[in-house]
Parts: sequence; structure tokens; C-alpha cells
Amino acid sequence: MDKSTKKVAILGTGNIGSAIAEGMISSKQFKAEDIFITRRNAGLLAPFTKKGFKTGTDNLVAVKNSEVIIIAVTPQQLDGLLNEIKKVLDVKKHILISIVSGASIKEIKERIGKNVPVVRAMPNTAIAIKESMTCIASDASVNVLDIAKSIFNSVGQTMVIDEALIGPATALCACGIAFFLRAIRAASQGGIEIGFHSEDALLMAAQTAKGAASLLTKGLSHPEKEIDKVTTPMGITISGLNQMEHNGFSSAMIKGIVTSAEKAAKIYSSKK
Ligand SMILES: NC(=O)c1ccc[n+]([C@@H]2O[C@H](COP(=O)([O-])OP(=O)(O)OC[C@H]3O[C@@H](n4cnc5c(N)ncnc54)[C@H](OP(=O)(O)O)[C@@H]3O)[C@@H](O)[C@H]2O)c1
Repeated sequence: MDKSTKKVAILGTGNIGSAIAEGMISSKQFKAEDIFITRRNAGLLAPFTKKGFKTGTDNLVAVKNSEVIIIAVTPQQLDGLLNEIKKVLDVKKHILISIVSGASIKEIKERIGKNVPVVRAMPNTAIAIKESMTCIASDASVNVLDIAKSIFNSVGQTMVIDEALIGPATALCACGIAFFLRAIRAASQGGIEIGFHSEDALLMAAQTAKGAASLLTKGLSHPEKEIDKVTTPMGITISGLNQMEHNGFSSAMIKGIVTSAEKAAKIYSSKK
């Protein structure tokens, strides 16, 4: 990251804001003292203060002390926050990274009334362990995009996409964490029914899921190619797999992702 843009403010330290903060310091590319995190409930900031982060309830102080401003409040809270900080946003100094679902770059710029560079980013909660898939979109300069990428590359993988695809990326990657976790949980429940204690079944299911994902991310393979290797003719795997498909396994996942993407497209405008 450019030396002159190392101070980062995270405004909103709930589920994802705190995961970003944790991931950034565990990457060792950022120091806790260079990250200013805020939320309104000061008591809940205490664990972060102990870890060396700058913390507080005053967003204006956080913005004035930072160059990169990550906005991590809910869509309902966004307008209030932008109204509050717009007076101290400096076009020449600040870059705004919004991870808020549904709010477009145009809507954010209109709300602040200044041409501050705005990037939209869609990470997921695996950012806390540096395993996020973060999609990024911006109409700002390559330099601004590089700064955003350098933050999110330190805590997982990034992909630059068109802004129109940020809603779909929310469904596939941010909501996707819950979808895959539910799949692992379901597998572990199957494991319990066939004889394993719950902790063992969960570990076995999670490690198997991790192995399957790694065959794709590290082996650069395709799911069907790997499935073909497991499905012996008239064998055990194909019987189970086909039974799942008869019950709508792939269809349920596809329909869930489409439903979440549709909701992501409306979430900001419906909250105003
Ligand atoms: N969770 C995910 O996996 C995920 C992934 C990608 C993107 N997102 C997006 O990230 C945003 C936050 O999601 P979340 O799940 O982290 O929600 P959350 O847990 O409710 O976090 C929102 C945080 O913002 C704080 N906040 C609200 N108003 C504030 C203000 N004026 N100044 C400073 N802090 C303020 C709240 O704390 P106080 O009440 O103490 O102020 C709360 O901790 C949403 O827009 C969501 O769509 C979430």
C-alpha cells in the first residue's frame, strides 16, 4: 500500500467491520495503531482498544485522522453516517470504500455532495482469517483501485468486477459463507445419523469441504472433473449424489443465490 495512505478508518464495527479489522492486523501489513475503528456503543469497542486499535464513537475524529475510510454500517444506517461525515471528507485526501449492500457509488457521491473517490467492496466474514473473496468495483483512478486491492489482497483474494455485478457478488460471496456453512452443517448431521459424535462429524465434514474447495482453488480443476473421479460406476457416491439431486440439491442452491441477489438489488432503496 502507498505509504501516504496507510491510515485507515473503519466506521461501523459489527460483524464485518470487526472481521476486516482483525484480518488486516493478522496480515501483518497493517498495524492496529494505524486503524481507527468506530461504533456508537463505546463499551463494545473495549476488546479492540486492548488490541491496540484506535477506537472511539466520534466518526469525525476517525475520518480526520485517516486517508482510507471503510464504511461498514447497515444500509439503514448509511445515510445518517454520510450526512455526518461529509463535511470533513476531503476530495484530495480521502478514499471512501463502502461495503454497504445495495448503495451505488452514484448514490453515495450524491449523498456526500463531493467528488471523493468511492470504491465499492464486497468481502465476506472469512476476512477475519485472511480467506475472504472480495469483489471490488470503482470508476475511480487505477491508483485508487490499487489501494483498495492492496487492503483486500492482504486478507484473501480480490476480483475487480463491474459495479452492476456487486449485488450478485453479495449473494454468491458474502451470503455464500452462510450457504456453504449450512451445507457443511447438513453434512455433519448426516454424519451423526450414520454413527459419528457431533464434534467428529463436524470436523470430518468441514475438512472434507475444505479439501473439495482446495481441489478447485489450488488444483485449478473443475467440479465435474473431480466428481467423476469419485463416482465409480454403480458405486456408493453416485447413489448418494443422485439421491441429493432428486431432492433438489443443486436447484436449492441456485434458487437461494438468485433470491439473495434479487434482495441485494433492492435493499438500500427499500430502507430509505
Ligand atoms: N456480515 C457480512 O457478512 C457482510 C459481508 C459483506 C458486506 N456486508 C455489509 O456490511 C454492512 C454491515 O454488516 P454487518 O453484518 O457487519 O452489520 P452489523 O453487525 O449490524 O454492524 C453494523 C455496525 O455499524 C455500527 N454503526 C451503526 N451506525 C453507526 C454510526 N453512525 N457510526 C459508527 N458506527 C455505526 C453498529 O454499532 P453501534 O450500534 O454500536 O453503532 C454496528 O456495529 C452491511 O451494509 C452489510 O450489507 C456484510
